[in-house]
Amino acid sequence: MANSLGKMGFHNQIILAPMVRVGTLPMRLLALDYGANIVFVSSVDVLETVDFVAPDDRVMFRTCTKEKERVVFQMGTADPERALTVALLVENDVAAIDVNMGCPKEYSTKGGMGSALLSNPDKIEAILTTLVRGVSKPVTCKIRILPTMEETVSLVKRIEKTGVAAIAVHGRMKEERPRHPVHCDYIRAISESVSIPVVASGGSLDIIKTNDDIETFREETGASSVMLARAAMWNPSIFRSQGALSVDELQYIKELPQYSILCVCPQAVRYDNNTFNTKYCLCQMLRDRVESPMGKRLHAAQTNEEICEVFGMTDYYQMTQAELEARRWVLQATSSP
Ligand code: FNR
Repeated sequence: MANSLGKMGFHNQIILAPMVRVGTLPMRLLALDYGANIVFVSSVDVLETVDFVAPDDRVMFRTCTKEKERVVFQMGTADPERALTVALLVENDVAAIDVNMGCPKEYSTKGGMGSALLSNPDKIEAILTTLVRGVSKPVTCKIRILPTMEETVSLVKRIEKTGVAAIAVHGRMKEERPRHPVHCDYIRAISESVSIPVVASGGSLDIIKTNDDIETFREETGASSVMLARAAMWNPSIFRSQGALSVDELQYIKELPQYSILCVCPQAVRYDNNTFNTKYCLCQMLRDRVESPMGKRLHAAQTNEEICEVFGMTDYYQMTQAELEARRWVLQATSSP
């Protein structure tokens, strides 16, 4: 099995967790720049179309070479054959394929996807076995914990037998909300009972406030690797081993754009990210500052250009547009007969 994740695979990695709406290309590239080793992209909608582009022309999954070796494509599925069809479509552009078995939202569970799979281990086995046999990249899955430790460990052991390369565990039950404490003891019990790498998820609120806390969470759970969702959504520079940047550094730093938290904004311009998605991600980062004059101007912005104006990045916006235009021109000139 090809392992484009490199020698470490899922061992000892710090990962950007799958997050719908948040884990778009700009955020993934930002996380990689700050020091994440692996990034997840989640997609429930691709299954509707078996395509990268939805019928209404929305881009569902945009990727680039920079992340190719480190991006894990997560899908929501309840059907082994459809899962395989989608996996075969994307496998050449991603490092691994993951199945979402933890999403408690109705849009997932009503179709038997996400956490609905947790009560259907036969279906889990069928999906994972089909993917492991049919796909040339490592296959993983992300689960939530079950009501008892025994049930959870027994499910995980069954999952391990399907040949998955790793298992991510969000240490909460499907009825539990993100504010509830994470069950490190369950993740530890899982880590001790399987030999594949376990990726711990769920530490953002209670445990992970700084970069050093990532290792604390790893130690408390005995896991091989850790994935971060909310901590990265609030401040993607949490991945910096030198320490996260402070909220005061939220402003675009002209001289050091690559170190500005808001470089999610430059990345958004560079990769033509959907404006409303960019706004959504930036609002998550501003947190209680969304009510500030800056936050209000951000709210009012209708285009990536207007977003850039809010942060004093008009020059950057224009320069990037000019570069993109020049590239478009070269492409057209070289592709015309
Ligand atoms: C999530 N989470 C999530 N999980 C998943 O497997 N697929 C998904 O698409 C999403 N989407 C998503 C969106 C947003 C906005 C958030 C905040 C979370 C769950 C996430 O990956 C993670 O398991 C939990 O948030 C717990 O980890 P943290 O936040 O404590 O690091």
